[in-house]
Amino acid sequence: MSVIAVVGAQWGDEGKGKIIDMLAEQASLVVRYSGGDNAGHTVINNQGEFKLHIVPSGVFYAHTTCIIGNGVVINPTVLLGEMDELKKRGVDISRLYISDRAHLIMPYHILLDGLEEDALGSKALGTTRKGVGPAFTDKAARLGIRMGDLLDKAGFKSRLETVLTGKNQILTKVYGVKPLSLKTIFDQYCEFANRLSPYICETTSMLEKAAVNREIVLLEGAQGVLLDPDFGTYPFTTSSSPMAAGACLGAGISPMRVKHVLAVFKAYCTRVGSGPMPTELKDKTGDAIRQCGHEYGTTTGRPRRCGWFDGVAAAFSNRINGYNGIALTRLDVLDQFPELKICTAYKLDGKTIHEFPSSVAEVGRCQPIYEEMEGWMTDISDIRQYARLPAAARRYIRRLEELCGSPAKLVSVGPKRDETIIRSSLV
Ligand code: GDP
Ligand code: IMO
Ligand code: MG
Repeated sequence: MSVIAVVGAQWGDEGKGKIIDMLAEQASLVVRYSGGDNAGHTVINNQGEFKLHIVPSGVFYAHTTCIIGNGVVINPTVLLGEMDELKKRGVDISRLYISDRAHLIMPYHILLDGLEEDALGSKALGTTRKGVGPAFTDKAARLGIRMGDLLDKAGFKSRLETVLTGKNQILTKVYGVKPLSLKTIFDQYCEFANRLSPYICETTSMLEKAAVNREIVLLEGAQGVLLDPDFGTYPFTTSSSPMAAGACLGAGISPMRVKHVLAVFKAYCTRVGSGPMPTELKDKTGDAIRQCGHEYGTTTGRPRRCGWFDGVAAAFSNRINGYNGIALTRLDVLDQFPELKICTAYKLDGKTIHEFPSSVAEVGRCQPIYEEMEGWMTDISDIRQYARLPAAARRYIRRLEELCGSPAKLVSVGPKRDETIIRSSLV
């Protein structure tokens, strides 16, 4: 049996989509466990290039069942659009299932995400404005509506009426905007229900069965650990847990069954949205990384903030997740840099520290202390064997492994499925 949690180990966009697509060849089940369509997972394989926001990245194999887990919040317009697009491009989605416990993103969530961000002005969080935060807020406030609720139209109408009455009070009295119509939303969501009902079901039993049968199950994370609401740079975080522990909660599986926690790390750092990032480079080097790596958001198209690899944040990420392997992505992006830097400590208010602070103000004041390493100045994208990597690249990887405290089992040298060096088996 092998249940593998695949976790974004930094600030998201580490290349989880590529790694899941690659590993899914051996898996019978892939479960997306957190976030919503704030995520954008890029997959490039023999069927083309895909940007998935909700559908798990294991959808491209005929033998792989895909589940959108209970920990995900779903905008049905986006999900149906994605399903239609996949079908149009010849991808079979008949093995897709949606947890009846997953919450819905409703029109007022999207509206409120924008209004709340606008109200924060210069202090805005830089959310994706997809309604994800407000949907998780309602889940915790016990005002959410779940996929399973769509299967009982009378019950759904009554629930929507109760919740919408409160939302319209907020929309009109706090934000001074027009109320939303119960009938319009109800009719629209009944349409969604008609199309989605064949896919909605209880999903934990499928997961249990696959685990008992010792099949390979991948738990697909969204976002990254440094965006976790407990451990990230709060309040500049997302609203659900991208962590390995979040995988158990958001998929519905016992922690006892998770045998591997695979961390997806980029060979450097990026971040989209607001909040501190100690190694951010607001100079030509940062621009060069963005340019070489085409670092623009998959979901919003925003330029990603780029910087050197942060070893302090990486060690913290490992401590709270317990990685037993790393998939190191985008090593090829560093091919043309004669000198590389790795952050090994921070200077905070005159003191050298090795801990990632919990206070967002303190993270903001941390100055990175760098170690310099020689670059390899060679195109590595055709390399498929670890031993063939230039010595300088292997030294760079070794140093990252030391700082993280976990071995690099996979090294990705390009966005395509096969542009990967498999160093040691995961299962
Ligand atoms: P995710 O959200 O973690 O799935 O990552 P995204 O898809 O948002 O962003 C990762 C980007 O890096 C995508 O454009 C991928 O196609 C690309 N990518 C993944 N691995 C590699 C790699 O090893 N090298 C390069 N050059 N690009 C990669
Ligand atoms: P994937 O799965 C990178 C960021 C947003 C913002 C913060 C809160 O592709 O790695 P939200 O809309 O979640 O309320 O926004 O979180 N964010 C991501 N950044 N990758 C993601 O997902 C992200 N999902 C959310 O930019 O800073
Ligand atoms: Mg992404």
